[in-house]
Amino acid sequence: MPSSPLIGIGFRVPIAKWTLANLHRFDVLEVTVDHYIRGGEYTCKAIRNLVDRIPLVLHGVGLSIGTDVPLDDEYLDGVSEVIEDLKVPSYSEHLAWTKVPGIDLANLLPVPKTRAVAEMLIPKIERLQSRLPVPFSLENISYVFDFPDGEMSDAEFFNLLFRETGVGMLLDVENLFVNSHNHGIDPQGFLDELPEGVVTGVHAAGGPLVRRPYLDEPFYADNHSQQVPEQALDHLGYALQRQHPETIILERDNDYEKGDELLADVSRLREQVARAAAMREASVTDATAH
Ligand SMILES: [Fe+2]
Repeated sequence: MPSSPLIGIGFRVPIAKWTLANLHRFDVLEVTVDHYIRGGEYTCKAIRNLVDRIPLVLHGVGLSIGTDVPLDDEYLDGVSEVIEDLKVPSYSEHLAWTKVPGIDLANLLPVPKTRAVAEMLIPKIERLQSRLPVPFSLENISYVFDFPDGEMSDAEFFNLLFRETGVGMLLDVENLFVNSHNHGIDPQGFLDELPEGVVTGVHAAGGPLVRRPYLDEPFYADNHSQQVPEQALDHLGYALQRQHPETIILERDNDYEKGDELLADVSRLREQVARAAAMREASVTDATAH
């Protein structure tokens, strides 16, 4: 029987004090490796202060694995040091590109879902796996646009990477919800296509529905400023029927001062996990009764 996922939030320095005061409400915190590498002494101290007080996992935004250049060894050395410093058991990044040589675009951009791009990514993932001392997982991003020459669906592309490298998946249920609304992806179809047990961790967040006179349709923006939408919680419940993530992390990057919203979302995540566990148990009982 897989153990219940640890539930917590992404650690952000602007709410460090509040997080420490509420530490007993979380099972785990997710630290962003880039905050530690580039954040300066105050940020590093705030993050180091968490070690041995609560389990930590590591996430990143600066790898840009989708840029068609070799991996940045200096950056990877930094990640390795942080893994050691913080004694974290895992590291995750986005299946995305954020840079072109010399320029940081400061945006998570989608990779074209083609065989050629997969062939570029596979050796890089394998190199990461052999270079880092902890398991590595890739996150599904939300994207504003998609390349028109894709040869595979989102799930087919991920599955190719899983098959070839054994990499795990960080499933962001809000990104799945946003993509389903903005691009018509079938969220349950996406989840059905994933191999059982491939999801190592989950992200949940919320963002606004953006309406503008020049837009044909309103779209959801993934800016981590609002509570988790019900649909994303539904996706989590559905995913938990076949997946056994070790952690579920609430991401909040704007409107931090609404601590009550964060705590309410953590409770909603716990309730959804409990519901999914009860459903799994009921289906096992049902199966044995027949
Ligand atoms: Fe995420």
